[in-house]
Amino acid sequence: MNPVRTTIGTAQPATGTDTAAATATPAAAAPAARLVNVVKEYRLRRSSLFGRREVLQAVGGVSLTIARGETLGLVGESGSGKSTVARLLMRLVEPTAGTIEICGTDVTNLRGRALRQVRRNAQMVFQDPYSSLDPLSPLKESIGEPLRIHRRMGRRARADRVGELLAQVNLRQQYGDRYPNELSGGQLQRAATARALAAGPELLVLDEPVSALDVSTQAQVINLLQDLQEELGVAYLFIAHDLSVVRHISHQIAVMYLGRIVEIGPADQVYERPAHPYTAALLSAVPVPDPVRQRSQTKIPLRGDIPSPTQPPAGCRFHTRCPFAMEICREQDPPPYRTPAGVTTYCHLHEHGPRLAGAPVTALRPAEAPAHVGGKAAGKGDDAA
Ligand SMILES: Nc1ncnc2c1ncn2[C@@H]1O[C@H](COP(=O)(O)OP(=O)(O)OP(=O)(O)O)[C@@H](O)[C@H]1O
Ligand code: SF4
Ligand SMILES: [Mg+2]
Repeated sequence: MNPVRTTIGTAQPATGTDTAAATATPAAAAPAARLVNVVKEYRLRRSSLFGRREVLQAVGGVSLTIARGETLGLVGESGSGKSTVARLLMRLVEPTAGTIEICGTDVTNLRGRALRQVRRNAQMVFQDPYSSLDPLSPLKESIGEPLRIHRRMGRRARADRVGELLAQVNLRQQYGDRYPNELSGGQLQRAATARALAAGPELLVLDEPVSALDVSTQAQVINLLQDLQEELGVAYLFIAHDLSVVRHISHQIAVMYLGRIVEIGPADQVYERPAHPYTAALLSAVPVPDPVRQRSQTKIPLRGDIPSPTQPPAGCRFHTRCPFAMEICREQDPPPYRTPAGVTTYCHLHEHGPRLAGAPVTALRPAEAPAHVGGKAAGKGDDAA
């Protein structure tokens, strides 16, 4: 499945004709990136002289694969650990446990020169383009810098390549002489993308690259990213809060909650047939352009705030907010469940209580929940207690 080009906020179904590009990935090639059981913990400062040092688990055992030339969309509420996954992948922070591979190379313990060499293959674009563009230099200097560092290109070759990169991101050549404060938000993000592409990476890690842009500019930047992917075969980890943003650019979508992936699979399946209540709750917040469909869809409200990652709830981490929580949810971590549609979800509802067996969780109404959060397990067919 290849993602659909569209304007943001207008959901469109994926079509069967979109399959060609994704399947063109050479089967023998190692994936662009792979995380296996990656954990990142931070030891916090003591709150008082004799207080305990708390451990904050930002990422609690994440495994994912990004295929060459494809996009993995990563979504979740603020604080769910998305940026930490991005920083781990770029090896900007050290993992506490697990394995990180870029293009088949294990980078988990690489340092110094060896790490810099592999980093050519993975570049990052931030929400704030000023993170990578020097406000005191013209764009051509910022965009050309990776060519000097990674490629050791001379001045003339660099100028030519910067010209090509500006053209690739649809910026006129004159923009090379401008300073960041002379550009609009969308132009800045395109310039930051040109800089990230300069080293010729296999993977771009895009951390909320369009969140600060208005809706029409978001669509322009996303369409540009799709064009670049088709042209260059570069893979993306695309991070966003909003499922409607990632759907149109993603081949796969991963949904994160409190440091863990709760659902991961083909983008259209995750979007159309959410198998986890948290995904369904995120989707409930996305406006649907068709008013009839909007009315017919089960709304799963997301109540309360995400709990503290220093004390994640036992069992399923989502149980304190889930309208379908059962007794088993408070006690046991849900194991992975693979739906017939190829989505992996972590929710007891598929094998306990209503036994959804891979059916979308939107088939349930919150009022039909087998048990209420904090109450006794009393649901029909709930065999967990
Ligand atoms: N250096 C750090 N030291 C301590 N805690 C950290 C550090 N970096 C991140 N955290 C914590 O880890 C958790 C995950 O943070 P992260 O930035 O990955 O979330 P996020 O999903 O990207 O959120 P947002 O959508 O707001 O960007 C948060 O609770 C955050 O406070
Ligand atoms: S039903 Fe249980 S396992 Fe599934 S998301 Fe809700 S609390 Fe978690
Ligand atoms: Mg973030």
